[in-house]
Amino acid sequence: MKVAVLGAAGGIGQALSLLLKTQLPAGSELSLYDVAPVVPGVAVDLSHIPTDVKVAGFGKDNLADALIGADIVLIPAGVPRKPGMDRSDLFNINAGIVRNLIDAIADNCPEACIGVITNPVNTTVAIAAEALKAKGVYNKNKLFGVTTLDVIRAETFVGNLKGLNPANVHVPVIGGHSGTTILPLLSQVEGVSFTAEEVANLTTRIQNAGTEVVEAKAGGGSATLSMGQAAARFCLSLVAAMHGDNVVEYTYVETNSDDAMFFAHPVRLGKNGVEEILSYGKLSEFEENAKNAMLDGLRADIDLGVKFVKGA
Ligand code: 2OP
Repeated sequence: MKVAVLGAAGGIGQALSLLLKTQLPAGSELSLYDVAPVVPGVAVDLSHIPTDVKVAGFGKDNLADALIGADIVLIPAGVPRKPGMDRSDLFNINAGIVRNLIDAIADNCPEACIGVITNPVNTTVAIAAEALKAKGVYNKNKLFGVTTLDVIRAETFVGNLKGLNPANVHVPVIGGHSGTTILPLLSQVEGVSFTAEEVANLTTRIQNAGTEVVEAKAGGGSATLSMGQAAARFCLSLVAAMHGDNVVEYTYVETNSDDAMFFAHPVRLGKNGVEEILSYGKLSEFEENAKNAMLDGLRADIDLGVKFVKGA
C-alpha cells in the first residue's frame, strides 16, 4: 500500500504523516510531497522511527514521482484560517492548489483513492471531481471529503458531557464540513439521551469547533493535530477496507440523493473505495429542520467548485 500526502510539511501534513508512519501496515510506503523546502527533512526525521513503513520526501519539482504507484492520496495542502475567517475565505488560494494537485493525480495515479482535507472542503471536493472529469478519469467511488474531524469532535464532546469514554462513543455526522452544513445526528447516539437544550448547544459547538481552535491559536492557524488524527483514522479505515475488512466511515461523497451532489453519509468502504453509500436513517424534527435550512448553502458551495473548473 502506497499512501501519498500532498502538503506533508504543513501542520496537518506532519501530524498525519507521523500517525501513518507509526500505524500503516508493515510493508507500506509513505510518500511525502510539499512545496516547502523542509519536506526532505520531514521525511528523514520520520524515517528514523522504527516501523516497517518506508518514507520518501519529494519537493516541488517532483510531484509526479511522489504520486506514481500511489493507492491513496491525501491532500491537506493549502492555507489555513485566521481568526475572523470562514472556511470559504480560503477559496481564492486553495481552489487553485487543489486543482493543480488533482491534475497531477489524474496524470500519475488516476486509480488512486483521494481524500481531500483542504478547505473549503464543501467546494474543494467539487473542484476535484470536475478536474478529474475534465481529465476523463473521474470515479465517484474514489473521491472523498475527509469529514472525520467532525465525527471525532462530536464523539469527544458527547463523551465529556455524559461522563463516557469518548473512545466508545459513536456519533453520526452528515452534510458538509462548514458551519451549519455540519449536522451531527445526536438522536442516533446509542445509549445516550439529550435534553432539547443539550442538542441545540452540542450541535452549535460541533459546528463551531474548527473556529474554537482557530480563535485559541490566535492567528497561528487552524486545527492540525486533531485533523491529523481524523485523517489518519479515515486513511487507516480505507487501508483496512482495501485489505478486505468491513469498515463504515462517515465521509463527504457524491451521492444520488436529493440533498446535494456531495453529502457526508455513512459509507461502506471496500477494495475500490466506496462499496455502498448507506442511508443516514431517520432524523429527529430538529435534525430535519437543520438539514433543510442548510441545503441551499451547501449546494451553493458545491456549485462554486463546479464553476471554478468549468470556467462559468
Ligand atoms: C477544522 O474543522 C481544519 O477544517 C478543519 O478545524
